[in-house]
Amino acid sequence: MLPTDLFLDPSSRLYCAVLSGLAYVAVCAAIVWRARNRRQQFAAVETAAAGSPTWLVAFASQTGMAEALALHAAQRLNLAGMSAQLAVLDSLTCEQMVRAERVLFIVSTYGEGDCPDNAGRFESMLMSEPAQLAAVYVGVLALGDASYAAYCGFGRRLDAWLLASHAQPLFARIEVDRGDSAALAFWHQQLNHLAGSSDAPDWAAPAFESWQLQGRRLLNLGSQGSPLFELMLVPVSGVLPQWQSGDLVQILALVDTGRHRDYSIASLPDEGGVKLLVRLHCDAQGYIGKVSGWLTQEAAIGESIKLRVRPHRLFRLEENLSRPLIFIGNGSGLAGLLGHLKARIAARQSANWLIYGERNRAHDSLYADTLEGWLSTGSLRRLDRTFSRDGERLRYVQDVLREAADELRIWIANGAALYVCGSLQGMASGVDLALTEVLGDEAVSALKFEGRYRRDVY
Ligand SMILES: Cc1cc2nc3c(=O)[nH]c(=O)nc-3n(C[C@H](O)[C@H](O)[C@H](O)COP(=O)(O)OP(=O)(O)OC[C@H]3O[C@@H](n4cnc5c(N)ncnc54)[C@H](O)[C@@H]3O)c2cc1C
Ligand SMILES: Cc1cc2nc3c(=O)[nH]c(=O)nc-3n(C[C@H](O)[C@H](O)[C@H](O)COP(=O)(O)O)c2cc1C
Repeated sequence: MLPTDLFLDPSSRLYCAVLSGLAYVAVCAAIVWRARNRRQQFAAVETAAAGSPTWLVAFASQTGMAEALALHAAQRLNLAGMSAQLAVLDSLTCEQMVRAERVLFIVSTYGEGDCPDNAGRFESMLMSEPAQLAAVYVGVLALGDASYAAYCGFGRRLDAWLLASHAQPLFARIEVDRGDSAALAFWHQQLNHLAGSSDAPDWAAPAFESWQLQGRRLLNLGSQGSPLFELMLVPVSGVLPQWQSGDLVQILALVDTGRHRDYSIASLPDEGGVKLLVRLHCDAQGYIGKVSGWLTQEAAIGESIKLRVRPHRLFRLEENLSRPLIFIGNGSGLAGLLGHLKARIAARQSANWLIYGERNRAHDSLYADTLEGWLSTGSLRRLDRTFSRDGERLRYVQDVLREAADELRIWIANGAALYVCGSLQGMASGVDLALTEVLGDEAVSALKFEGRYRRDVY
């Protein structure tokens, strides 16, 4: 019950109860419908490839691009009368590859040269030594970003392992730097060649739409950290696209040769727009980030912004909706966690534990009323906020995990899943280490494999 409910008369309360009941049913139905829709797309590929597939299209993807390309490739091959099946890399075995005879790998690289979270088991277990793949024909499409030191690191390691396993390359590895259109066109050429026809459309990234900046609010006045803003954006067309908690938006930087930036969505569609938490990026040399600088300092209210909503499947609630959930994050990472908490509350799931870190309680207590309200009404079972600069020693979210080790083990034993959102450096690696210390290496890998440890970290 919300605090305001206490002041309503009985008939209004009944009305609210009916409304919130309907909202609950609608949220659950929407989540089930979207999950089913996605399963149907995958199932269509499976059905087309029923029997023994001659092609496997295996993917490892963190934020969804490799997955979208893989789905397109499998559909393309099936359309050409071939039998192609999709597989997440972590679920793939060498036996399946040998049975299929031809395998296309579409993989991205994450972290600092790491594999995406849905390829950890494949890399540690299968790629630890060469396999017997001399009878298998393979092709590798590696997605990456050349500004990282380990450019296409995982794609290159995978390709080297395939070579050491004596697999037969169908073509030389194709590397795609930040969605480079020439490299993608070359990939489509190869795909058409393999499919034996060129009459199906190439994969194209969804178009950017015009949105409008409707509001901007500073959340951390007086903070030692860089200013963090809540932005509200609405589509110029007035037609709001659908998204789920955990999804991202991409904003096109007109100032920066068309490169987009990703931001986690903090709102649900029923709030009427996309809410983002954007931190002004400012490095030690005083360099101001192009897009965060523009969004937080320059763009006027009402200004037009090119934006597209992007599904972030690895970070969605999906099958975890009815599990207890532990949300862990820092800084602007609260955005992705807020979206999930709102979805959980709408679905009347109250087994939620939030562990959130910032610098000072006095200036960085973001959404304090909302979070404390959720705690007092029971929508949050446990709330740990840690402010690293307030005490005598630095204390981060990973320290909270260690201190609460017994309770953490109980939650995990009761089937809980973990959602981590925020900084890759420092926070995400520290959380990973603390989880490994408390739960053990194997348990952490199993959680990843089961989709019970999901991350949106950057
Ligand atoms: C999945 C995901 C989710 C994200 N969610 C959020 C979120 O919810 N909130 C949020 O605030 N951010 C989020 N981010 C980060 C966001 O996408 C941007 O990376 C961030 O806003 C910085 O972008 P920018 O254009 O301001 O900085 P950029 O201009 O891209 O600069 C970034 C860095 O590049 C270097 N650099 C680039 N050009 C130059 C140059 N000419 N001279 C010197 N140095 C240079 C600097 O070191 C600088 O520090 C997310 C990222 C990802 C991948
Ligand atoms: C947090 C983060 C870390 C990344 N690290 C690397 C990297 O080390 N090397 C690289 O080549 N690309 C890196 N990339 C770029 C991605 O591989 C690239 O954006 C890719 O298109 C993402 O595909 P996906 O959506 O299928 O995960 C990184 C991207 C993000 C967001």
